[in-house]
Amino acid sequence: MVNDIFKKVVNRMGPLGEHADDAHGYFTFPKLEGPIGPRMMFNGKMKLNWSLNNYLGLANHPEVMKADADAAAQFGMAYPMGARMMSGNSNYHEQLERDLADFIGKPDVILLNFGYQGVVSAIDALVDRHDIIVYDAESHACIIDGMRLHIGKRFMYQHNNIESLEKQLTHATKLAEKTGGGIMVITEGVFGMSGSQGKLKEVVALKEKFNFRLFVDDAHGFGTMGKTGAGTGEEQNCMDGIDVYFSTFAKSMAGIGAFIGSTPEVIKYLRYNMRSQIYAKALPMPLTIGSIKRLELIRTRPELKDNLWKIVNALQNGLREAGFNIGITTTPVTPVLLNGTIPEATHMTFDLRENFDIFCSIVVYPVVPKGVIMLRLIPTAVHTLEDVEETINAFKAIKHKLDSGQYRQEKLATAKP
Ligand SMILES: Cc1ncc(COP(=O)(O)O)c(C=O)c1O
Repeated sequence: MVNDIFKKVVNRMGPLGEHADDAHGYFTFPKLEGPIGPRMMFNGKMKLNWSLNNYLGLANHPEVMKADADAAAQFGMAYPMGARMMSGNSNYHEQLERDLADFIGKPDVILLNFGYQGVVSAIDALVDRHDIIVYDAESHACIIDGMRLHIGKRFMYQHNNIESLEKQLTHATKLAEKTGGGIMVITEGVFGMSGSQGKLKEVVALKEKFNFRLFVDDAHGFGTMGKTGAGTGEEQNCMDGIDVYFSTFAKSMAGIGAFIGSTPEVIKYLRYNMRSQIYAKALPMPLTIGSIKRLELIRTRPELKDNLWKIVNALQNGLREAGFNIGITTTPVTPVLLNGTIPEATHMTFDLRENFDIFCSIVVYPVVPKGVIMLRLIPTAVHTLEDVEETINAFKAIKHKLDSGQYRQEKLATAKP
């Protein structure tokens, strides 16, 4: 008997989709309205918002808004038409690539239309059936999906565990000697859920013992980490050991697009072999010219990163002093780890949003282990110390209610807007 695909999918909505009827529009797919910033409208009321990766506050920076608008007025959204290889290249795209390469200290850069498909496609282009990928167990979905296209072997090492990486590199080396292939290690600069940094310097040091190339996804580190904001490689003083450096414009740059920095030869290879770029339209001008402006601000306004870190330190120190478990973050990503069921998580979040007017992301199983509730805060340069104080006080109140069982209910909170 041949099954009906539609029947199968609608009966099996998945671990998040199974809550859709209760959660949609409130816990999932919420609408944050008004200008992007620490105070936004949600469900008809102003909330203090900690849920956006607008780390440097560039989303609404007047110079950024003007650059985007001027580019849209001059070029519209369509130009340039076609993929860059065929008809969609421009001087602005090439300028942005040069500016990015100078900033991160790599000889060359290729622009990507989106980070997710860019990582998938870069992995696909770089490795073949003889090559072996060794990757961190907590890698972002785009890395995992890139590996789905890989028909050679892969080895997973325990998250940020150098001993485990060494073990997997030993297996990979033995295998590569047989296949005649190479080895690519893939990890992240900043892990976006826990806020921990990839141990890049220690991974790079393993090059003394093993022969491999290192691919780093630094989506959360670019703009936030390192002396100049050039990312986690700069922070750990090992940028030269990162062979393929990736970041997205979706976070500190508050835009759309992404890029990879590497040697001129590898970038040339990617330009002519990355299917996601060869067969897809180039970034439109407002995103390209707008990104040139954003990068200029990151380069020339160190106060943006200083402000971010002032808020990060106040928030993380304040939460720790108040007795909260914020894990092992050493970056702006601030997880607050609590214990409770999924229904408790929804009732607590509802209370936090409706009665304390604070909006942050809520993360539950399967993203974190069963029984853990993670409230994830993303501080930005445009938050204030008063915002931090208000939030810590609210968190103390909801933790007390959680621990004393006040959110204990069987059913999820249903909050239809
Ligand atoms: C670690 C990481 N890599 C890649 C991406 C994907 O980037 P984009 O949003 O540009 O597709 C994200 C999320 O934005 C991310 O957090």
